[in-house]
Amino acid sequence: MSQGQRLPNPPEAGIVNALRFTRTPLRFLEGIQSRYPDAAEVSVPGGPSIVVVTNPDLCHEAMDRIDDFSRVPASGAAALIAENGLVQTEGDLWQRQRETIAPGFGSDPLRTYVDRVGEQTARLRGEWADAVESGDTDRDLHRDMTTVTVRAATEALFGTDIGAEGAARMHRLMRQAGAEFEISATAITPEWLPLPLSDRAQTVGEGLKTMGEEILETKRADHDPENPSDMLDFLMLAEQHADWPENHLRDQVVTFLIAGHETTALSTTYTQALMSWHPEVREKVRAEAREVIGDDDPGHEHAQKLTYTGQVFTEALRLYPPAWAVIRRADGDQTLGGYAVDDGSIVFLPQWSVHRDERFFENPAQFDPSRWDDRGPGDKGPYFAFASGPHACIGRGFAINGARVALATLTKDFDVDVPRDALSDLLVTPTLRPGDGVDATISRAE
Ligand code: HEM
Repeated sequence: MSQGQRLPNPPEAGIVNALRFTRTPLRFLEGIQSRYPDAAEVSVPGGPSIVVVTNPDLCHEAMDRIDDFSRVPASGAAALIAENGLVQTEGDLWQRQRETIAPGFGSDPLRTYVDRVGEQTARLRGEWADAVESGDTDRDLHRDMTTVTVRAATEALFGTDIGAEGAARMHRLMRQAGAEFEISATAITPEWLPLPLSDRAQTVGEGLKTMGEEILETKRADHDPENPSDMLDFLMLAEQHADWPENHLRDQVVTFLIAGHETTALSTTYTQALMSWHPEVREKVRAEAREVIGDDDPGHEHAQKLTYTGQVFTEALRLYPPAWAVIRRADGDQTLGGYAVDDGSIVFLPQWSVHRDERFFENPAQFDPSRWDDRGPGDKGPYFAFASGPHACIGRGFAINGARVALATLTKDFDVDVPRDALSDLLVTPTLRPGDGVDATISRAE
């Protein structure tokens, strides 16, 4: 047992809490957030305790203390996919990987990435123009944004455009993965009960690995060790000098294939849905886009100037953070803010509910980009869509600048209208995903 004050327990019986958590995890987190100022502990029969932290200072502290609160090792299907990739590794291996990869996120690669986002978005804009012309105005917005973000990411990170067909394949695999990775099973299943791996999970895992291998093969054919320019070049150079685990390169490619596009596709989709419900915000983004981009080819040079669009994106990530919680496990008995956290407890640091707490945001349910007029998102405050500490998002700059350019480019010329309930039933997987896409109707903007 840890030293320190015991955390309060929500009064419902253990199994009731566990079921509520797995059936409606977001509502459950909001309930805890509104009742406990620092954290609460939910006991799960047969499983480790779940500690839900509601105080952002303690969330950041847990994210900083990576030796005390480590990542939860992936199990089941997730472990199959990329166990040696940066999102899953720990300790020395993670440290070495992060250092090797860092130059792939410097200012030149950032420019390349945002320019590729600009090109891919301009391509989509052309496709939308043709579609509207022929009266075909219905789109799956999430699918469109996946195409833009995965093609831009693979070009910038791996030097390969996977094309429309590759993007469609990726979208299919991610939808299947979403269905496999819903939170229920992982959260309350006692650790001693092995989860059977479904055939579908195996197929998704194999499909993603195959895509990773194909990208690697293409790269091997034209990698120039004298002129490394993208992240995969840096990884391949480092591969020659150090001992890396088997399949390290492939796992890294698959990791970035997913991490490099999924959250950006989701967040740019959610931002456009929110703008469609707030036409006054959309008008302001359009005015900014027309002034900053005008008739230019959209790209990196515009990103910094799209400040209002940036605020809109920040606000959308506050209300719909695709990474809805950072999840850690107590390594040994710990204390956090004076509270005891027992060895093995699963610790939730939930962006979803902290971002919606009225202690930190006035009228928290309201989508109001002006709340960021004279307040930055900050690194350690109650807003942590990109996490903090040593494992903080390495792609944050890519995501923010790319999203500004993509959102401005589309909003400049189109109205995107999304049904009011499109985000009311998101799947709670490691990210928040729309189960069946996001239907949208597009039309030419005035
Ligand atoms: C809106 C877009 C994005 C959001 C909201 C987001 C959010 C996050 C969060 C919350 C984490 C911390 C996860 C944890 O510690 O458990 C993270 C880590 C990470 N992100 Fe992102 N991310 C975004 C875009 C990107 C992009 C574009 C890339 C790559 C190009 C990327 C690559 C990564 C990687 C590799 C990690 C693991 C870092 C490490 O452990 O060292 N992310 N991201």
